[in-house]
Amino acid sequence: IKVINVVGARPNFMKIAPIQREMSKYSNIKPVLVHTGQHYDKRMSKFFFNDLQLPEPDIYLGVGSGTHAEQTAKIMTHFEKILNEEKPDLVLVVGDVNSTAACSLVAAKMNTKIAHVEAGLRSFDRTMPEEINRLVTDVLSDLLFVTEKSGLENLKREGIADHKVHFVGHVMIDSLIYFKPKADQSAILDELNLTPGEYGVITLHRPSNVDNKQNFEKLLNAFAQIEQRLPLIFPIHPRSQKMIDQFGLREKVEKMSNLRLLDPLGYLDFMKLLHNAKLVLTDSGGIQEETTFLGIPCITMRENTERPITVEIGTNVLVGTDTQRIVLEAEKILDGNAKKGQIPELWDGHAAERIVKIINEELS
Ligand code: UD1
Repeated sequence: IKVINVVGARPNFMKIAPIQREMSKYSNIKPVLVHTGQHYDKRMSKFFFNDLQLPEPDIYLGVGSGTHAEQTAKIMTHFEKILNEEKPDLVLVVGDVNSTAACSLVAAKMNTKIAHVEAGLRSFDRTMPEEINRLVTDVLSDLLFVTEKSGLENLKREGIADHKVHFVGHVMIDSLIYFKPKADQSAILDELNLTPGEYGVITLHRPSNVDNKQNFEKLLNAFAQIEQRLPLIFPIHPRSQKMIDQFGLREKVEKMSNLRLLDPLGYLDFMKLLHNAKLVLTDSGGIQEETTFLGIPCITMRENTERPITVEIGTNVLVGTDTQRIVLEAEKILDGNAKKGQIPELWDGHAAERIVKIINEELS
């Protein structure tokens, strides 16, 4: 069984790593790793390959940045050639980035089977590019691997046949568990002179937050209040870094003496930073789930989430972009009233085993 495993952007790498590793245990499965090059900076890509012990991609498409249409079209044109040459039995895509949807569309038109890992998540907000990618990918997929129960309900409601859908848990949590001993050895806390439990972590990159000056400023105003009580570490995404300068917000950021901007961190350093944080302020999808697994309080600066289990039983709270709401939630945590959470069903480190077993059964 020849399987093309597709990665493109940072949040794909930790999801594909356990799948590649598991596939290599099967003598009858040949994984081919294709990197679209959607993310190309060393800190967004190469360093993750090293940390996650991923093999060099077999094929690198080098598409880079662009508008949504440009990026998607470039990936499609390149990927079509690869499918013609490789003729795989299955294309496996993960998550919800442009590479996920673009490669699914190509595979579907070429009558190649598609497996979508992390299927069924819905924010019900079609202004989010990821929601469009999720809808397109799921409707085209032959095997849909679901991380949380809400995904099962969403797919059923959308008319996806039950036999295609498998509730398997979360490959991103597989990576978190597998690499925990290595992450523990990271020296990042010493390097940054941080004490466990005595700092907060910020991540921010959603277009709705950072491509809009007013929203970005509201968030910075919240950080300015929180940093009076807690040092904040902010490894910053290239998109947000660029927008700080474009909006003339650099001075405002630099005025916060207790907030530290860093370049994007590698996987192991970032996991170490998360494990030991007092709280996390984020607009990421995956970090809502990683903090729920780790039991770390998470304040999500979005109006909605496609990962509702993290709010229902996890440590996540949705606060939107209102300055005072963000500050109030942070104060609750700092005053010892953080929400307690539980770990969702099947987030146990064995999702990739379940996925590859099903692929083997379905395609043999
Ligand atoms: C992408 C995903 C998003 C995911 C995020 C994680 C889509 C639609 N979005 O968003 O779901 O949460 O990755 O990081 O697929 N840039 C660089 N170097 C890079 C990559 C990007 O400088 O290696 C800059 C460029 O200015 C680029 C901008 O960031 O234009 C946005 O990159 P892009 O890949 O379009 O989307 P992300 O915001 O990274």
